[in-house]
Amino acid sequence: MTREEAGMRIAKLTKEINEHNYSYYVLAQPKISDLTFDRLLEELVRLESAFPELTLPDSPTQRVGGSVTRAFDSVSHRYPMLSLSNSYSQAEITDFDARIRKSLGEDVEYVCELKYDGLAISLLYEDGLLQRAVTRGDGAKGDDVTANVKTIRSIPLRLKGDFPVSFEMRGEIYFPHKSFSALNAEREADGLPLFANPRNAAAGTLKMQDSAVVARRKLDCWLYYLMADEIPFESHYESLLKARSWGFNISNNIAICRKIDEVFEFIRDWETGRNELPFDIDGIVIKVNKFEQQQQLGFTAKSPRWAIAYKYKAEEGLTRLIGVDFQVGRTGTVTPVANLEPVLLAGTTVKRATLHNADVIQALDLHMHDMVVVEKGGEIIPKITSVNLAFRSTDSQPVAFIQQCPECGTALVRAEGEAAWYCPNANACPPQLKGKLEHFISRKAMNIESLGEGKIELIFDNQLIHGIADLYDLTYDDLFGLEKVIIPEDGGKERKVSFREKTVENIINSLEQSKQVPFERVLFALGIRFVGETVAKKLAEAFTDIEQLMQADKQMLMAVDEIGDRIADSVIAFFANEKNLKTIGRLKEKGLNFSGTKKAEPGSMLLAGRSFVVSGVFEHFSRDEIKSLIESHGGKNHASVSSKTDFVLAGGQMGPAKREKAVSLNIPIITEADFLAMIAGGKPDE
Ligand code: IVH
Repeated sequence: MTREEAGMRIAKLTKEINEHNYSYYVLAQPKISDLTFDRLLEELVRLESAFPELTLPDSPTQRVGGSVTRAFDSVSHRYPMLSLSNSYSQAEITDFDARIRKSLGEDVEYVCELKYDGLAISLLYEDGLLQRAVTRGDGAKGDDVTANVKTIRSIPLRLKGDFPVSFEMRGEIYFPHKSFSALNAEREADGLPLFANPRNAAAGTLKMQDSAVVARRKLDCWLYYLMADEIPFESHYESLLKARSWGFNISNNIAICRKIDEVFEFIRDWETGRNELPFDIDGIVIKVNKFEQQQQLGFTAKSPRWAIAYKYKAEEGLTRLIGVDFQVGRTGTVTPVANLEPVLLAGTTVKRATLHNADVIQALDLHMHDMVVVEKGGEIIPKITSVNLAFRSTDSQPVAFIQQCPECGTALVRAEGEAAWYCPNANACPPQLKGKLEHFISRKAMNIESLGEGKIELIFDNQLIHGIADLYDLTYDDLFGLEKVIIPEDGGKERKVSFREKTVENIINSLEQSKQVPFERVLFALGIRFVGETVAKKLAEAFTDIEQLMQADKQMLMAVDEIGDRIADSVIAFFANEKNLKTIGRLKEKGLNFSGTKKAEPGSMLLAGRSFVVSGVFEHFSRDEIKSLIESHGGKNHASVSSKTDFVLAGGQMGPAKREKAVSLNIPIITEADFLAMIAGGKPDE
């Protein structure tokens, strides 16, 4: 392909992919399959890496992140970012309306909008291109978080239509409930502290240094205000409609109200309606619609006189504390959970609330059988915000944090400066062992799917395994015939888990295949406290093999991006433990990967001269990982099937067109397992 051809193709792909992003993320009406989309994006990535100078400023490849910011530049806002005055009662809104009508007369129109509960952002567009994204900061100056904001798919990188040459679009970055729950579930599995609510999570995410991590977390954004030196429209509402036509994500939940009663109706509707929204709102914003009238009213030092926020009170209820359970997690952290008399909140019955840790219990001065105030909003885990002392009996006892592990009896410990108590008996405490095994086989770790759905528990309960290394000693005879009847707690249908021939074969095979899993995921699978997926990746990149990592001192560990005091200490403690070293030694003997892929296969030429087309989704590797494996063994990757293709490597959900083409050209279609056998020295069945 000539430079010129590449330039044209890059321009075409950039435009097309941006359009598809818009259809998918703003209109929620995808026009092509995910697979086709991925293919277009892959092609663009390839072309851009061959001709980096031809990359366009609105290239969608920026959406996947990758740039790492050391410190965010502080930049001055062109127009200060003000806040809104808040109100909590109907009377305050009536007063607001009276003030407005007194200044402007009766010809007033309000725009009512949702008050999104996230972080304010200012987006600067010049000639239709997103130039800069800045946080609110102190209102006069904020942080330049452009690289992170570009990963939000619904924010246009290039506008379409008749937009002003230079303007700012203001909006709110937020965590949709779905991405928030996924993030917290992942953090829980990694033994990391949970985010208290989507807003905190959004704030934490926007300030992350690695934009690739931001991209994975799936933030979103609503836009709600246009600012420019000269706005060519008469009203706020009109400007929002125009902004929508340029590609911005503008909510449909907006109303124009001429009478204050209509405003109250909007407030009332969303008071309950908000429980159904897939994101959090904390109120309603009421704005005078006409720009001319806005100008007439002007600003106070802190906020516009033409707008006001009506804030909903968090839904709360009073109920009795029945008892406190202590749960032991995979990494040994002990979490106190309050059992409550059932209470209806935000549309759901709440029976339990997290107490987080001992400090929270102490701060609340919680006593057994106290009447407590419970708060819940949207998807958030309910929490106890205070105790109503009027109901406390004189002989009530304070809730005491346990001192021994409820599962294995070991004395709990607490690291200096940390809120959580944990059970240090990591290698023998049953829920920790079970949790470690579950984590080890999970999809993002060793991905031994055939062991999921209670099977690992059955093997553990039969004492066939005590730790992760034992998995690789399991034989066919150990497993064959094991069975257990599962009676679901919720009264659901009984289920029988039984190990027949096929099940056992699958387990043994997938254990064997897991030996190909790359170092970074093995490191993640080990379940080192605070070492989640990202940290494991950073460590695997910084240290070529496990020996180097084991020898690293605190300073060397902390020199790695995103690794601080706490993680470094945890890594050191993990490798100081004899039992862990023994486990690693055994896993190594079994053939698991304890060094980076590049180093593990130095220049094998097993696939020299062979050309591959990789398609579909794989069990143990991402498509990119498979492709680099092919290259590291001397093979070549091609995007489309032709008579020159030697093998089509097919994962799940392979495109039918590719399959048909391969069949018609008589090209062998091999599976992931065939491929692994191939690079292990064997030959696929041709
Ligand atoms: S308009 C000049 N509209 O609430 C003020 N703000 O306390 C322009 N917010 O900092 C703000 N939803 O972060 C506006 N529909 C909405 C909003 C909204 C949420 C936030 C915004 C602002 C804060 C004000």
